[in-house]
Amino acid sequence: MCGIIGCFKKEGCYDTLLTLLHRLEYRGYDSAGIAVLSSGRKTLTVRKRKGGVSGIEGRRIAGETGIGHTRWATHGAPSDRNAHPHVCGKFALVHNGIIENYLSLKEELVRGGAEVASDTDSEVIVRLIEKVYTGDFFAAVAAACKRLQGSYAIAVLCKDAPGEIVCAKYKSPLVAGASDDALYVCSDIPALCGEAEYICTANDGEFIRIKDSKIVFCDEDGAEISKVFERVSPVLRAEKPQQGSFMEQEIREIPRALAETYVGLKGLDFAVCARELRQTKRLFAVACGTAYHAALAFKDAVERDSKIPVLCHTASEFRYRKPLVCQGDVVVAVSQSGETADTLEAVRLAKNCGAYVIAVTNIEHSSITGLADFSIVMRAGPEIAVAATKSYNCQLLCLYYLAAQLYFYKNAQMPAYYSQLCLLPEAARAAFDTFIPMRILAEKCKSARGMYFLGRDRDVRTAAEGALKVKEIAYVFAEGYAAGELKHGTIALIEEGFPVIMIATNSALTGKCENALEEVRARGAYTVLFTQDEGAMSKSCADFKCLLPSVCEELMPVISVIPLQYFACRMCIERGYDPDKPRNLAKSVTVE
Ligand code: F6R
Repeated sequence: MCGIIGCFKKEGCYDTLLTLLHRLEYRGYDSAGIAVLSSGRKTLTVRKRKGGVSGIEGRRIAGETGIGHTRWATHGAPSDRNAHPHVCGKFALVHNGIIENYLSLKEELVRGGAEVASDTDSEVIVRLIEKVYTGDFFAAVAAACKRLQGSYAIAVLCKDAPGEIVCAKYKSPLVAGASDDALYVCSDIPALCGEAEYICTANDGEFIRIKDSKIVFCDEDGAEISKVFERVSPVLRAEKPQQGSFMEQEIREIPRALAETYVGLKGLDFAVCARELRQTKRLFAVACGTAYHAALAFKDAVERDSKIPVLCHTASEFRYRKPLVCQGDVVVAVSQSGETADTLEAVRLAKNCGAYVIAVTNIEHSSITGLADFSIVMRAGPEIAVAATKSYNCQLLCLYYLAAQLYFYKNAQMPAYYSQLCLLPEAARAAFDTFIPMRILAEKCKSARGMYFLGRDRDVRTAAEGALKVKEIAYVFAEGYAAGELKHGTIALIEEGFPVIMIATNSALTGKCENALEEVRARGAYTVLFTQDEGAMSKSCADFKCLLPSVCEELMPVISVIPLQYFACRMCIERGYDPDKPRNLAKSVTVE
């Protein structure tokens, strides 16, 4: 959720802090702050404010060592006083995570005379550090961490230790980076790309110490842990669009993202997991949000072709449900960021139960890829907009590819759709022809108070994803539903002008989809049809029709979602909002 950074740069860290904070803003934009420590004068300057990073830009603050934060509020409303860094005595701290025992720690600190200055859970950490400090900066941070329950990635400055940053990590992501002229810590690998040349991720329980112009990983006693830094892939850099939003830019990147992901898949050696795929009698798939919809599409493909059950779980439920995972099971974890706390915990649980874990992520050195037995790293490129778009199309491509591999290891041949996967980038480009109609549709629907997205079979997944996009960025209540379920309750909500959007890409079921549209139209709904079937389109009663480009039906979900993604983006703009900064959301959900 929140983004944290630390930077040591002899020439001054201020500009770098702000550059990195701007890159991290997609993780949270309730408030932002920096603290800069200057070695000469031993001054600690803090600037923090409610609102975006631009709100803290101003006069350059001199100093080599600094920390910074973009906040996504968990405890305490967005405000200047709740913004990080939190300061106590000689210390300044930024935190990402949730301290679950903060109330009891706070009570203890208040009983000891502390005057708490914010409503956050994070402030207790810096107060604990200050309380136990006897001149050894690192030891104070390590001792404070022993008292914490929950999740944290912290970066701390101490006035007595110019040039030093002490960081700790437990269940929240933290990565160290180095370039010729600077050293970094950050909650986010993509944000470091373009600044750091080499990176190394911290494991739970590890500390990172920037001191004497060096980065050292160590344990809680300060004993050095040997780590390997890897060159960071430049592909992860994201450039701000010249005009428009990241979201629209990322939708327009879908053809390229699919093409690059396809090349990556072709180069991946699935023989590594051949034994597991051949032997498994069932699979699990765990994910959250958009990635969960991709996981459901995977289930459809595997059950249809390989006739093996796939038990799909939202990761947040999986971890508390005592799932029946055991040795011999294959668990597929789908996560764009590779850092989603619930998915990460689901992976840990699956590993503990002896399952073989396959990760599908967009970030090569993420926590989930670090835990998985086998990783499929898509090449969607950096996705900055909070609403997932191109990563979803690439997740589908990777998962269909994986489903094909599974089929191959069971049946010694590829499924028929396999040869068509290479056609997806071109079909995605053809889907851009729907953008002008989508602008018109968004204009028509902009005042709707709610809408349904309907489908049958695999189109139900697309319907759910379309509805999620509209909810999260256009703030219109939307339901993604199986068309056949309408009559069992939801049709009661249909009234004059209520938009009902039908995705009908399965030719065997278009007649049934049309029936459902007729039923809601008879009750006043404003009906919309998406199909690649020109015959069905010309016969349809729908008020608004949109012809999709055609690929083989099994792969249509990769394409049919594109107009819906664009529609949601346009709805958002029509309603006067910023697609890149949906309220209450953050890109990487690293807390529970
Ligand atoms: C929706 C969206 C979220 C994410 C979900 C999982 O547009 O972006 O629903 O899909 O938080 O995130 P990852 O894929 O990073 O695990």
